[in-house]
Amino acid sequence: TPPEAIRNFCIIAHIDHGKSTLADRMLQITGVVDERAMRAQYLDRMDIERERGITIKSQAVRMPWEVDGGSHVLNMIDTPGHVDFTYEVSRSLAACEGAVLLVDAAQGIEAQTLANLYLAMENDLTIIPVLNKIDLPAAQPEKYAEELAGLIGCEPEDCFQVSGKTGVGVEPLLDAIVAQIPSPTGNADGPARAMIFDSVYDTYRGVVTYVRVVDGNLNPRERIAMMSTKATHELLEIGVISPEPLPGRGLGVGEVGYLITGVKDVRQSKVGDTVTNAAKPAADALGGYRDPKPMVFSGLFPLDGSDYPDLRDALDKLKLNDAALVYEPETSVALGFGFRCGFLGLLHLEIVRERLEREFDLELISTQPNVVYDVTMDDGTQVTVTNPSEFPGGKIAEVREPKVRTTILAPSEFIGAIMELCQGKRGTLLGMDYLSEDRVEMRYTLPLAEVVFDFFDQLKSRTRGYASLDYEPDGDQAADLVKVDILLQGETVDAFSAIVHKDKAYGYGLMMAGKLKELIPRQQFEVPIQAAVGARVIARENIRAIRKDVLAKCYGGDISRKRKLLEKQKAGKKRMKNIGSVEVPPEAFIAALTSD
Ligand code: GTP
Repeated sequence: TPPEAIRNFCIIAHIDHGKSTLADRMLQITGVVDERAMRAQYLDRMDIERERGITIKSQAVRMPWEVDGGSHVLNMIDTPGHVDFTYEVSRSLAACEGAVLLVDAAQGIEAQTLANLYLAMENDLTIIPVLNKIDLPAAQPEKYAEELAGLIGCEPEDCFQVSGKTGVGVEPLLDAIVAQIPSPTGNADGPARAMIFDSVYDTYRGVVTYVRVVDGNLNPRERIAMMSTKATHELLEIGVISPEPLPGRGLGVGEVGYLITGVKDVRQSKVGDTVTNAAKPAADALGGYRDPKPMVFSGLFPLDGSDYPDLRDALDKLKLNDAALVYEPETSVALGFGFRCGFLGLLHLEIVRERLEREFDLELISTQPNVVYDVTMDDGTQVTVTNPSEFPGGKIAEVREPKVRTTILAPSEFIGAIMELCQGKRGTLLGMDYLSEDRVEMRYTLPLAEVVFDFFDQLKSRTRGYASLDYEPDGDQAADLVKVDILLQGETVDAFSAIVHKDKAYGYGLMMAGKLKELIPRQQFEVPIQAAVGARVIARENIRAIRKDVLAKCYGGDISRKRKLLEKQKAGKKRMKNIGSVEVPPEAFIAALTSD
């Protein structure tokens, strides 16, 4: 296909504003999927995605479209919708020349609308503003057209009005994509350069890599090279998706498609990397490549210790499909053998955990997530801490923690509540803008550690669910952070150590000590529960002693009954974990980590 006939675009939207529904309708209207074969949300292939209603992995589909007798090829690139996947979103956007900015006509602009719009503008994309769901009785297209036009600097009349559900307005939108979005340009005769914007593991085919060709062309059976690693592979298959894979004759300038080389691990085919010809390699890679960097760490432990080998196998399998997942074995006094895992963010953690439980039938417990800290000691040594138990004990000169830039959108009546929340979370207000009379955008920098703790839940509850949130990494800052240990009878219980701000150490200690007091059964001696920073105890609770003499109950009874009781008591003890001389049922640890 000549580049002049190609239009590469994506749809960007806040979650639930109808991106998948509109994409489905476009597939249908362009005839790529017929009515009978149309299954809801064609593009969301994974079960979890369908059930949770979110898109985790992007896809690209090629659609033919005729305008005024001219045939065009529209490549629709699906972008993931959640904050944790900002980098993947940015790569999908970089593969396009234009974006359909989709806004629910009953809801208006939300935080991810803005975050995605800013990313699209950074990539110099042509933006087509679209109001969706105009079939809804609650839709207010005029009101939100004003909002949208004000945001991107166009006239309210320039905003398209569609319904992905009924199909109204979708044909004119397809025409506008051809008319407004520029066709791709590139050097057809130069060495090939194609950007990887997605990479998916398939059990039967190995890794399927989605690329956008910028210069030159890629052909079947030739050798290609990955520019970040210099690794070379033979192209076993190359083609386009429409809507099923169509192996073809190769891809030229501006084209979007997939390739298969037989590699078995998405780490060998990384999002953002540049593919070139092995025989005639390009001198420079396309810009913007970044290694995925885990931001949030948590321990994952099997509830049943004998599942440990299964957990290891399951993680090895998931890794094939997830370049951002990292893990290493971890042993905990309280929880036994497990893995310390790194994730892009909280949603990524939840998705991995859910897949482990669902697809691999494992029951897991995860420890409180924490971020990565850079600690500098007085003697100049540097330590990177991904686990509170690694927090150094000596003289510390400085601790640095990651920050994020957050965008919060909410009705203006909640400004006070949001400010209070953000201040309590060590936030700094960067700015505030009214999108309309009653809706406001607030920008804060916050420590990532505070955001991963319970920020989102609190934001939702303080704004009755009306606020939306998006954030992106924003460097790091020095902070007054300490490690709080929880001790039972003087022994540290590793799973409960946490790195917190100095001002919050007491609150954390008191909360954990209180929780454990409730959950740990009384022993035959008094058990102190202490929270300590270094050697200094900052909070203390006591579990009072109990005379748990089961024999007393059958005073004077016959001897065989006594023996039975003793045996029963012994069996009960086996399941207990011992912290020093304190016996703790594993459920107590689990409850302390999960309950709130
Ligand atoms: P993610 O892909 O998860 O980010 O969500 P999405 O933006 O793709 O939203 P999706 O297409 O899943 O739609 C969200 C909800 O809105 C679903 O319940 C759809 O049925 C509904 N919906 C989507 N488009 C329309 C529309 O035009 N009209 C009406 N009435 N409902 C719609």
